[in-house]
Amino acid sequence: MNGLQLNEQGRLKHFLGIEGLPRDLLVEILDVATSFFNVNQKTVKKVPLLRGKTIANLFFEPSTRTRTTFELAAKRLSADVLNFNISASSTSKGETLVDMLRNLEAMHCDMFVVRHSEGGAALFMAQHVVPSIHIINAGDGQHEHPTQAMLDVYTIREYKGNFSALRVAIVGDILHSRVARSEIHALKTLGAAEVRVIAPKTLLPRHIESLGVKTFNNLRQGLTDVDVVIMLRLQRERMQSALLPSEHEYYQYYGLTESILEHTHPDAIVMHPGPINRGVEIASSVADGARSVILPQVSNGIAIRMAVMAMTLGAHSEYKEG
Ligand code: CP
Repeated sequence: MNGLQLNEQGRLKHFLGIEGLPRDLLVEILDVATSFFNVNQKTVKKVPLLRGKTIANLFFEPSTRTRTTFELAAKRLSADVLNFNISASSTSKGETLVDMLRNLEAMHCDMFVVRHSEGGAALFMAQHVVPSIHIINAGDGQHEHPTQAMLDVYTIREYKGNFSALRVAIVGDILHSRVARSEIHALKTLGAAEVRVIAPKTLLPRHIESLGVKTFNNLRQGLTDVDVVIMLRLQRERMQSALLPSEHEYYQYYGLTESILEHTHPDAIVMHPGPINRGVEIASSVADGARSVILPQVSNGIAIRMAVMAMTLGAHSEYKEG
């Protein structure tokens, strides 16, 4: 995949997944996002870096946070944004993805931001678009959600600093989670001391240890002394069969409550990519509590998406913080 997403100079051409990307590039994305962060605090939240560029959001699956923060990020970089309504598009009338791409190419777009239910959809598009178009993966099936992982590691760096001493636990439906896969790749590449995944056996992918993580089936044991807890929702829409007895029972064993949180490091932060399901994987008092950084994650997503779009289009070096 990296042969396609990096150009000959090792710069981002497309952003399809975290797996295999070099540490220096991940750190550069975090640093560029830091430089953009203040744009979002200003009265006039705009810089002219992508003036004249056209970015199309192609979301074949529902989204709240990712689609809107990509749109905001593009607009804050002064790009023109096209939000393509897939359910009302000609793909719903039988048009192939490649034919749809050819038509969007004819409109002289510069970038497609793609969410799709099939793993590999963003890669497929990168293989089939003309060389002038850049593809960003906004989540493909159970494969990767790279900008979500980058905003998560950005948030971890903001609250915890260096990764080298950190124990991070990812809890919940690891089996169906593109977020977990991208986060594991990002955390391992950035040198996190320990990455744990905690889930019932039915929600852990086989051979997940090969990614360098420790697995736990017991929530209390898995959370002991961790610095960061990342909760995931149950992805019912991807479950082919009954993998759990009931949500009530799941909450009893895997729900993050205030009493369970006491087993973590006293300064541990709580994260969640959203959408959260209160009373299923997380108690309201934890989601809204002092250790939760769930809403800062959303804000950080704008800076990360600005960074990835500017870097992919080769425009970030023109930016001077003012
Ligand atoms: N985290 C995430 O991908 O949320 P959305 O589905 O709302 O975009």
